[in-house]
Amino acid sequence: MDQAHNLREFVRKQRSMARVLAVTSGKGGVGKTTASVNLAIALAKQGKRVIVLDADLGLANVEVLMGLNSYYNLQHVIDGEKRMRDILVKGPAGIEIAPGTSGLAKLADLNAHARQNVLDGLQDLQERADFVIIDTMAGIGQNAVRFAAAADEILLVTTPEPSAIVDAYATIKTVIGIREDATFRLIVNMAASPQQALAVMTNLTRVARQYLGITLSYLGHIVRDPHVTQSVMQSNPFTVSFPTSPAAKCVFDLAEKIVRQRAESEHARTGFFRRFAQTLGLASNG
Ligand SMILES: Nc1ncnc2c1ncn2[C@@H]1O[C@H](COP(=O)(O)OP(=O)(O)OP(=O)(O)O)[C@@H](O)[C@H]1O
Ligand SMILES: [Mg+2]
Repeated sequence: MDQAHNLREFVRKQRSMARVLAVTSGKGGVGKTTASVNLAIALAKQGKRVIVLDADLGLANVEVLMGLNSYYNLQHVIDGEKRMRDILVKGPAGIEIAPGTSGLAKLADLNAHARQNVLDGLQDLQERADFVIIDTMAGIGQNAVRFAAAADEILLVTTPEPSAIVDAYATIKTVIGIREDATFRLIVNMAASPQQALAVMTNLTRVARQYLGITLSYLGHIVRDPHVTQSVMQSNPFTVSFPTSPAAKCVFDLAEKIVRQRAESEHARTGFFRRFAQTLGLASNG
């Protein structure tokens, strides 16, 4: 009886766990933070509970992009002074932001206690949201790669620039060195046209398959759009200030695709649990 209860509890928890998406890139400045924030808002507008975890320690961070200010950040969680839920800041469309800290850069150096605090905090986020979006740093640094490798999916951002594409490839290579079965979904940002974005995807896919033996999937593109720069200047995300702009339309499309994919994988997951529960005689119809 006890076992049945535990199993049901396990199933319930698995179902309500957030999907964790790490937004990462090889080259800096390709639009990770912009994409993280606006995708989060687009997902929230579809009724999803979304938390953005700022693991990018640069200056143009998640909060700045939304004109928010926070008193507490991840450092307080690392130090055990605050719980994750207590540092969250409310953003547009009901999204929540976990403000970052440069202390995250030393993830590998954290003592066991601090590391446990981080893990507990991440668990906290996962139970609280439908999506956790992690805005990572660029490049193949320890931290970006750690977050990327741990996530359910990696949203790899590149621009059509050759240097950005080469660096995206290097990132893929580093991440699969840590986790062979990592899932990459490519976002081509600042694209001149859908055709240009598709050409970037085709090239990168071919090289990744040929030299790394992995298959990338294509999430889609975000066009280069002056509304984006304008919204950055105004500290107001373009999905809020310019919801009908070309860039916003692209982001809403991407969010829809992400939700669809999620529904598919959830279906598979629930299917598995139902069958599993049935074989143990614990079936519920939920
Ligand atoms: N689709 C777009 N069209 C036009 N400009 C864009 C677009 N996406 C991003 N930008 C511009 O590029 C700049 C860099 O974007 P962002 O800060 O999101 O990049 P990042 O990858 O997070 O950078 P970093 O590596 O420094 O963290 C922003 O100031 C923004 O104005
Ligand atoms: Mg950034």
